[in-house]
Amino acid sequence: MLNAAIVGLGWWGKILTQTLAKSDKITVVKLADVDADGGGAFAAEHGIDFTTDYSAVLADDAVDAVVLATPHSLHEEQIVTAAEAGKHIFCEKPFCLNRASALRAMEAIEKAGVQVAIGHERRFEPPIMDALALARDGKLGALMHVEANFSHDIFAALDDANWRLKTDESPAGGLTATLIHLMDLSINLFGQPDRVLASVECHGGVVKNGDTLTAQVKFENGCTASLNAFTHTPFFSRFAIFGSDGWTEVRDKAHVQAPEGWFFTTCLKDGKAETIEYEVATPVLSNLECFSDAIAGKATYPNTPEQIVRNVSLLEAIVKSTGSGEIVKIER
Ligand SMILES: NC(=O)c1ccc[n+]([C@@H]2O[C@H](COP(=O)([O-])OP(=O)(O)OC[C@H]3O[C@@H](n4cnc5c(N)ncnc54)[C@H](O)[C@@H]3O)[C@@H](O)[C@H]2O)c1
Repeated sequence: MLNAAIVGLGWWGKILTQTLAKSDKITVVKLADVDADGGGAFAAEHGIDFTTDYSAVLADDAVDAVVLATPHSLHEEQIVTAAEAGKHIFCEKPFCLNRASALRAMEAIEKAGVQVAIGHERRFEPPIMDALALARDGKLGALMHVEANFSHDIFAALDDANWRLKTDESPAGGLTATLIHLMDLSINLFGQPDRVLASVECHGGVVKNGDTLTAQVKFENGCTASLNAFTHTPFFSRFAIFGSDGWTEVRDKAHVQAPEGWFFTTCLKDGKAETIEYEVATPVLSNLECFSDAIAGKATYPNTPEQIVRNVSLLEAIVKSTGSGEIVKIER
């Protein structure tokens, strides 16, 4: 059993706590948040020890791992100090906000020899795993392109002062909220991204950091990806892979916070599209439990440190491209 502390008890930290209540591999032994009232009340409700002091979490020998669900700009320092304290680290996405931060955080992790994991639960969605397997097994022929969209309007209800709408914390509209998941899946399939052209617009005027983000990514292997995230439209999510012999598309019925299952469509050489439905699954729990299995030496965690840093490098290039309007090379 892995003893974990969840740090940051906002929207997602609460979901992670509730998710881990169903785990027989991970026990949440501590909860932390700088908000003494809100965090304390949530912890009391769940009967879990609470602190406002992150250093007390790191000093606690009963804590094997930290699960970071804090604002993005805090991740780098929280990762470095957790690694120095010998704690395994599950960090919510994005890992960091720029490549230099990601490299520093990863260096601390590697030096400490602790396990790292990242909140890209979409890799654990059964239809996404099956779509990637179809592509990897050659069933779609020569791979060409990913076309994907992950949109919702959850942030349209936020107060303008919220960090999720600030360009220093959440640059380029839906980049760190949803597009980052599509970037991770594309990197997982195609490898090293080479260059990107991206733009962000604010049509509705409500989601102040931008509501319409679109990025065209070219990978070193010649494949391309069109990735979109709209944050002022009702939920919509699709991930499609195109190859010379066929295509496959995964459509989510609902957001992962309250999943309802998926539609999975494939069309192979005969040109006949077939759609099947997938039942609800628990990708958030599967991701966390894979992290604990990796620590126990029972599994290999699928996101490699190299892929995690690569995704942050792509993030940084997308931010640059939305600012300049130019094609930006991805640092490596
Ligand atoms: N994997 C996913 O699908 C998914 C979904 C939603 C959010 N997230 C990620 O989770 C993270 C948190 O997002 P959120 O929407 O829950 O934000 P939020 O604003 O709802 O919650 C953040 C919490 O962190 C707390 N906090 C701030 N500074 C802190 C500190 N120094 N120490 C401890 N706690 C601190 C805040 O008080 C707040 O309760 C982000 O990185 C986000 O991208 C991931």
